[in-house]
Amino acid sequence: MIFTRIPSLLFLIGMSLFLNILWPCAALDAGGLGRLTVLATESVDPVVRKDILRGMDAALRGRIGLAAPLGWDLLEAAVISGGDAETRSLVRSLGVVFGSRLALEALRSTVVDQGAASVDRNAALSTLLRTRSSSLVELLQTLTADPATRGLAIRGLAGFDDPRTAGVILSIFGRLESVEQRDALNTLASRVAYARPLLEAVRSQVVPKSLLTADLVRQLRSLKDPGVTVALGEIWGVVRETSPDMVAEVERVKRIYSAGGSTPGNASRGRVVFNQICAQCHRLFESGGVVGPDITGANRSDINYLLQNILYPNAVIPNEYRASTVALKDDRVLTGLVRSQDAVSLVIQTANETVTVPRSEVSKVEMTEVSMMPEGLIAGLSDPQIRDLIYYLSRPGQVPLPVGEK
Ligand code: HEC
Repeated sequence: MIFTRIPSLLFLIGMSLFLNILWPCAALDAGGLGRLTVLATESVDPVVRKDILRGMDAALRGRIGLAAPLGWDLLEAAVISGGDAETRSLVRSLGVVFGSRLALEALRSTVVDQGAASVDRNAALSTLLRTRSSSLVELLQTLTADPATRGLAIRGLAGFDDPRTAGVILSIFGRLESVEQRDALNTLASRVAYARPLLEAVRSQVVPKSLLTADLVRQLRSLKDPGVTVALGEIWGVVRETSPDMVAEVERVKRIYSAGGSTPGNASRGRVVFNQICAQCHRLFESGGVVGPDITGANRSDINYLLQNILYPNAVIPNEYRASTVALKDDRVLTGLVRSQDAVSLVIQTANETVTVPRSEVSKVEMTEVSMMPEGLIAGLSDPQIRDLIYYLSRPGQVPLPVGEK
């Protein structure tokens, strides 16, 4: 066995050198890709073949519309009739890079297959989304009706400017789970054409005002549309960007907390508040998002530390957490952390997802002076909710959710 692994490792090394260093300089050498394809097709060892495909897939991530290398159709046919699940999915994913009709059709049928596992349907959908083809809009709108795919479909819709999208999302809003509601709000806040119907829906209470959290308000402001900004002012009030007196504000919230007595809050209820307004960005006790740092090991038992960071995220911002606004040529505006970029694409971590955009679609990237963590997060909470949240944050370990909560 060791002898078959050695060549495959050599392949990997050679290929990653070739693809990552030589390829970009060689202006997409189609001949080289063709040679790899032939190697993969002819390789009798399925492990070697898979390694080659993995290398190609990693090197071509984020690219689209490349001409298929010579012999690709043969490889595709061979794998579809006799490859394992991972090899098949690599070939489909590469097929999307090369615009293969066979791959696109296979992905589409997996996506709509109600009998398929939802992880597979979602994996197929996210591969399809990489094509950024506007022919996906209708499919995505239909998938919003399907609980197995609607979260991803709603996030995917942010990538397209379509006049029906806001209506479709708002019509199902009340039936969505809370994580999906966040996806919906992020999509609706991503461009002016969706933000207007969203604010109308908040006004008419189809969307509860309490769900319009500080990060969404900031995203909506970054659209820089006068109509949206005015409507926000009416609905949400004016955001105070920095407080005149940090110390006094921290003391005020501390008094709210200590008014709760020796056990100021209920940790289980606090966990619910955390899930609503913090967990999308922070991990705590092994669950939560990756936008901000994992706060499990932070100085959580110190109420001054907690309050300064919650109330004044902009007081000290490590550079890697400064938010950027990325305007795309099709009017979408993303607010997020630019996690990586090269000549071909940018990877942006927004408050709820990681988006890869081709550089050719970007019109402007601006690094802001503010943290990815918004101010005003707890401004909408009641005093008991503030006590529950802080009490939960200062616990040494996880606590159960209240009975009946998910
Ligand atoms: C939209 C994303 C986002 C949300 C929502 C968010 N945070 Fe943050 N948070 C960040 C980022 C990014 C940082 C790091 C940059 C900074 O300190 O401003 C951070 C920093 C922190 C820190 C300091 C961490 C350290 O390394 O010392 C604490 C504590 C914290 N957040 C608590 C919270 C709590 C509690 C909530 C909910 C009330 C919350 N955050 C909501 C993104 C977020």
